[in-house]
Amino acid sequence: MNILTTQTLSNEALQTKLDQAMAKPEKTQGGIRHFIGVEGLSKTQLMQIIEKADGYLLGNGQIRNSDELDGCTVMNLFFENSTRTRTTFDVAAKRLGANVISIDIAKSSTAKGESLRDTLWNLEAMTADIFVVRHSSSGAAHFMATEVTPNIAIINGGDGWHAHPTQAMLDMLTIYREAKRPFEELTVAIIGDIKHSRVARSDISALKTLGVKEIRVVAPKTLLPKGIERYGVTVYNDIDQAVVGCDVLIGLRIQNERIGSPLLPSTSEYFKTYGITPERVALAKPDAIVMHPGPMNRGVEIASSVADGEQSVILKQVNNGIAVRMAVLAMAMQGQRTSKAIGV
Ligand code: CP
Repeated sequence: MNILTTQTLSNEALQTKLDQAMAKPEKTQGGIRHFIGVEGLSKTQLMQIIEKADGYLLGNGQIRNSDELDGCTVMNLFFENSTRTRTTFDVAAKRLGANVISIDIAKSSTAKGESLRDTLWNLEAMTADIFVVRHSSSGAAHFMATEVTPNIAIINGGDGWHAHPTQAMLDMLTIYREAKRPFEELTVAIIGDIKHSRVARSDISALKTLGVKEIRVVAPKTLLPKGIERYGVTVYNDIDQAVVGCDVLIGLRIQNERIGSPLLPSTSEYFKTYGITPERVALAKPDAIVMHPGPMNRGVEIASSVADGEQSVILKQVNNGIAVRMAVLAMAMQGQRTSKAIGV
């Protein structure tokens, strides 16, 4: 569904426009006004989210409940498919004591042609406090943040190729808890379809802000955005060189629809050339961790034995996603309460 004029821009022009729009994160004292991207947030602010999320984790996958969203209403508006993000936002909001409503967009009146703006305004009238939004259009969450009243916080659950800020924060929490060295000493390789990945963009931004020693990106030339070096990453086309000495390997999903296109001739060829295999993991540091945001294509971007292996923290990422989303929801509600208290 085309709702945004920004969709007609080239990818680079869109990125510039969005970077400018996100340059001033909307943050209020003690909270977050909207959470659209990680760009523009300071290391201190990212660490506040990580440490707050870490505080909900009790160990062995157990999570502490809280009453920070008692009496609040969180609406999940997912215009694009999701397993992890939607469900962990749902679990997170319930663990904070919120009423949670997940709108089934496929069965909503958007299918009858209702505009996104009208859908938003109608849901606002039902007294929501927070909208969690996923949309296939880059810039959708930002657009929504400009349309809603000050009583609503927008949290971006992933928009087009642009950003997936809560995924980036759960990735940072996972690195904070599972990597064997502090951020400043880490070499991180991001492997796969960087060009079409909102996770790669948000991860690179967060990793840079947190001061990691080196970020390497690895992909065939056809799956690397032009000018990626300007984000302060080192580009590799050879995965066997890229993974040497790494502390963290982050695999990215190859979008099946791109297989068989000039960008990607075949899955077997891709796996042979860029797949994360046990042999390649062995080239990284012996205590390296392997991450993937999901959904995974086993045997395409990652071998099953790696995905399920001892160095994999992929399911810990999912568990940490609940804690990060609790932290972001609680901070968004805190931001709203502060805004109301100071009358902005
Ligand atoms: N990582 C991620 O965003 O997964 P879902 O698409 O299942 O939410």
